[in-house]
Amino acid sequence: MNDALGAPQSVLVLGGSSELARAILRRLVARRARTVILAGRDPERLKETAAELLTLGAETVETLSFEATETAGHQSLIDDVFGRHGDIDLVLFAFGTLGVPERDATDATGAAEVAAVNFAGSVSAGIAVAGHLRRQGHGTLMALSSVAGVRVRPSNFVYGSSKAGMDAFFQGLRHHLEGSGARVVVVRPGFVATRMTAGLKPAPFATTAEDVAECVVRGLETGEDLVWAPPVLRWVMAAVKLLPTAVFRRLPG
Ligand SMILES: NC(=O)c1ccc[n+]([C@@H]2O[C@H](COP(=O)([O-])OP(=O)(O)OC[C@H]3O[C@@H](n4cnc5c(N)ncnc54)[C@H](OP(=O)(O)O)[C@@H]3O)[C@@H](O)[C@H]2O)c1
Repeated sequence: MNDALGAPQSVLVLGGSSELARAILRRLVARRARTVILAGRDPERLKETAAELLTLGAETVETLSFEATETAGHQSLIDDVFGRHGDIDLVLFAFGTLGVPERDATDATGAAEVAAVNFAGSVSAGIAVAGHLRRQGHGTLMALSSVAGVRVRPSNFVYGSSKAGMDAFFQGLRHHLEGSGARVVVVRPGFVATRMTAGLKPAPFATTAEDVAECVVRGLETGEDLVWAPPVLRWVMAAVKLLPTAVFRRLPG
């Protein structure tokens, strides 16, 4: 259960090697998260994050294997985690791939991979997690979406559309869980300097993993359903949505 101050004490991360997840976890452990389950693909990176969280004060950190495209195994993996750990206060969906935008625009295999990870993987694992949160009657599912899905840009429309799909899915799931005691929080970061964006030219309002983590933790504490990081992007993207198509197409990037 969340502690008396509303901070999660147990956290499951899907995409446990994500840099954004790691920054968020540092803050959650500092606020008394004691059990962390890191599910991901890269055992070395998971081990590194686990070691850091233990030094910061986590009592139990478990790592396990999770592949977003292996949707047939998602239900049993999630059942196993909830079965062994009991109630989980926060499930963070942090996995995602940018793909190779220029390639994916014309390559069916690459494009399908991006959609499989970002959209189909989120839907499959999201439904599995939601069932447990509904049954336990509390807990938060938090999904890292992106501003790229708010108005899909020509330069990365495969990634952007996969994020638009997962974002819409989690918004719908929030309504579906209304009244159950479970929450769904969607986070829309802008450009963040992490492994995913290494080598890319920072977009306007670019931010850091630490700043996103701060917005996320504040959002959890204040009970927001939709977290923009940085917050100014809420207004920037509202304006971008209103731009005429001809102007939107000419935006740089
Ligand atoms: N960085 C940004 O500018 C930005 C902006 C908006 C939204 N986001 C979103 O934030 C989330 C975290 O991104 P990040 O910036 O922290 O980048 P990151 O460090 O590259 O994290 C991406 C995570 O996704 C995992 N992943 C990729 N494909 C997977 C698959 N097929 N199965 C399971 N896991 C898979 C990666 O695992 P491996 O370590 O095994 O590769 C890694 O844990 C993503 O959903 C991303 O779309 C990022």
